Parts: sequence; structure tokens; C-alpha cells
Amino acid sequence: MTDKVDIRWMEETDSTQDEVKRHFPDYDNLSVAAALLQTAGRGQRGNKWLARGGENLTFSMVLRFGGTGFPPLEASEGFRITKASTLAIVKYLNANGIACSIKWPNDIYVRGKKICGMLIENSLDSGLITSSVVGIGLNVNQTDFPASLVNPTSMTMLTGRQYDLKVELDSLARILADSYGRLFSGQDIDSADREYESLLYRRGVFHEYATSPDGERFEGKILGVSPGGKLCVEDRKGELKKFAFKEISYII
Ligand code: BTN
Repeated sequence: MTDKVDIRWMEETDSTQDEVKRHFPDYDNLSVAAALLQTAGRGQRGNKWLARGGENLTFSMVLRFGGTGFPPLEASEGFRITKASTLAIVKYLNANGIACSIKWPNDIYVRGKKICGMLIENSLDSGLITSSVVGIGLNVNQTDFPASLVNPTSMTMLTGRQYDLKVELDSLARILADSYGRLFSGQDIDSADREYESLLYRRGVFHEYATSPDGERFEGKILGVSPGGKLCVEDRKGELKKFAFKEISYII
């Protein structure tokens, strides 16, 4: 197990992603910025991340590649960051008695409801990822959510327990650090690929999807992900289609 991770807790910030970027030289590999309240939390696809202050985990972990950080990572291998991050969250939730799946690419779902979202922002130089800021929003103690959120859930809603955010983040950050350590040192890559695919939400069953940006709907069955992280979906005619993020949305 990794030693205790360096976590900087703040009462309030706009977004821990932006906080880290403003003070980037101060954040070593695997260090974390966490906030009790984000006033401008950012989600995927330009959405806001809404989480009530003091009730949830909202934090960003810095990954550095090359030099004293992890070995250099080719941009084409960037999906490994997603795999290591999602598998760590699944492991942490499982250890808390919560069975979950991964809604490609990096949402964590429990029986059709979202418990955790991720925003992974990479910096690139000459085909290599030099650093990544992995932003994680995990619903912990919150039990009521704005109506604008389609299908949220939280750890408390699922277990009835109340959690100490600082204790939980110490534990989750170590699981994340371990997961990155294994995957970026080249260990467990095949087993992580298999595990990620086996955990995919809606895998192997026909459901409805829409292609973007045209919004055309079709029925498809998720088969897995390509080495580059595209979602592989078979349509009703048996044709295999591959989608990058933003090219497909799930009809929930
Ligand atoms: C999503 O599912 O849309 C991604 C949500 C990511 C939210 C986290 S909360 C901590 C970090 N800071 C942010 O502003 N966003 C990420």
C-alpha cells in the first residue's frame, strides 16, 4: 500500500481542477487538492458539477509523467488513466459494501444511478502526456439532489451510514495512488483491461443510444472498448461501431 497521500483541504474554492492548475508547481505527483465546497465545479461536456458543500468528496489528484513522476506515457495510452481511476473508485465502493459498474468512459453507476463523475484533463507535449489532473466528484452524505440531476445516488442513500469526508478521502486517495502505481509501471495491464470491460454498465444487452451531434437513435449492445478507449457497440444488424467520447450518448 502507498504511504499516506498529501491532501490539501480547503473550505471553499471555485473548482479543485482550477485550484490545482493555478498552483501547479506546488503539487507533486499523486498529491491532492480537496474542497468542502466548490462554487464553480466543472463536469464533462461543459456541464456544472453540483454537490452540496460539506457533504461530498470533490477533489483533484495530480499525476506527473517523466522525470521523478511515473514513466513517460504516450498520448495513445491515455485511456489507462481512465481505467486506473475508475477501477480504484469501484474497489473503494466495493470495500464499503457498494456494488457498482462503470458507465463508459468514467462515470460510476449503481443500479442505473450515478454516484461518481470524473473529469480528466491532460497536458501533452510531443505525443506524450506530461501531466494529468484527475477531478473526482463522489456523492457521499448528500441524500437530496436538485431536480435537474437525472439519476443521482450517494453512499448514504445506499448504505444508510454517515461518513467522515476526511477519513474517506485518506482511504480513497491511497487506493487511487496504488492503482496508478500498478498500471503506470506496466503491471496488471491485461487484467485491468479485462476488469474494466467486465464492469461496463449495460455490457452485452441491447439498449437505446443516440449518436452525436445528429441525435439519431439506434439500438446497440456494448461489447467492450478498443485499445484507444473507444466504445465498441454492435447494432441490430450485427455491425460493429466504435465511438469516441461525445460521439454517442446513452438514452437513460
Ligand atoms: C462529470 O461527471 O460530469 C464529471 C464531474 C467531475 C467533478 C469533479 S469535482 C472535483 C473536480 N473539480 C471540478 O470542478 N470538477 C471535478
